Amino acid sequence: MKIIVTGGSGFLGSHMIPALESAGHTVLNVDIRPAKHVEVETILADIRDAQRMKEVIKDADAVLHLAGLIEAGESVKFPQTFVDTNISGTVAVLEAMRENNITILLFSSSAAVYGEPQTIPITEDDRTIPINPYGMTKLAMEGLISSYVQAHGFTAVALRYFNLYGPKEHHEPESHAMPRFIKQIYTDQEVTVYGSGEHQRDYIHVTDIVDAHLKALDYALQNPGAYHYFNLSTEKPSTVLEIAAAIESAMQKKAQIKHLPERPGDPLMLYANAGKAHKQLGWRAQVSLEEGITETVQYFTQYWKEHSDENQD
Ligand SMILES: NC(=O)c1ccc[n+]([C@@H]2O[C@H](COP(=O)([O-])OP(=O)(O)OC[C@H]3O[C@@H](n4cnc5c(N)ncnc54)[C@H](O)[C@@H]3O)[C@@H](O)[C@H]2O)c1
Repeated sequence: MKIIVTGGSGFLGSHMIPALESAGHTVLNVDIRPAKHVEVETILADIRDAQRMKEVIKDADAVLHLAGLIEAGESVKFPQTFVDTNISGTVAVLEAMRENNITILLFSSSAAVYGEPQTIPITEDDRTIPINPYGMTKLAMEGLISSYVQAHGFTAVALRYFNLYGPKEHHEPESHAMPRFIKQIYTDQEVTVYGSGEHQRDYIHVTDIVDAHLKALDYALQNPGAYHYFNLSTEKPSTVLEIAAAIESAMQKKAQIKHLPERPGDPLMLYANAGKAHKQLGWRAQVSLEEGITETVQYFTQYWKEHSDENQD
């Protein structure tokens, strides 16, 4: 199949694209910035540019929509920017698909659609009341996609997960805990933990997320004309302090933990039930936290050694 990946220059895209190619697909990346961590044909374009989307999202069998703004904290400061990119950008992608008769869509949603969970672990049909604009845009994007399934015969799968981690995670600025902790320990800085560090989080390795997207593509082909949505979770939550300890052990270096004030709206437990994905996609997270962290630490330490003369990102 020919698959257009939006946002393929990012962290998940840099893993998704080689996996799609290995599975025999042809990939075209559409991103606002060049792909630095993956080799792929890339068209530089902004998803908010509806006319441009109609020109570039064509002659393909499916779209994997990853492009967007992802930082929940930033979304609180700049809600309109998140609405413009995530919601209006998604409308432009969907309209381009509709005009060019592409009807299969995979979407990286987020467990942020649930907001403050009422029950743990979270299941797909729990209430969705986001607590930041990022989560709100993800929920709105899901709603838009589902409306194209109803109105225009699309087939779509949305995958909801929390803390993705792994090699090649180069967000700028990096606010995600795992790469931040690794960098802080590597550069002998204090490891900054919000609150007690006893918060339980759902860390899932990028390889497992990639595998779920590949399975979701097969599932979409076998179950056309419907909107499907799945939680992706290891179902083995870890506390933030456990993550820091696992990184210490992989780096064989002691971390100096510095506790910062608790962040408002930071639930104590946040992880999902993945039973629906086990049953319907035949998917299960495989990478243990120890293996995943060891691999991630190795990647970053090697990367920083090789790029020590550059601004480390
Ligand atoms: N990283 C996580 O922990 C996580 C968790 C849940 C869901 N997700 C979702 O997965 C997807 C990919 O996440 P990621 O970690 O790879 O993020 P990322 O920031 O590394 O990649 C997103 C890509 O989108 C591109 N982009 C942003 N605005 C654009 C625009 N206007 N036009 C075109 N391209 C634009 C960026 O240039 C970037 O390459 C996102 O939709 C994110 O919300 C990520």
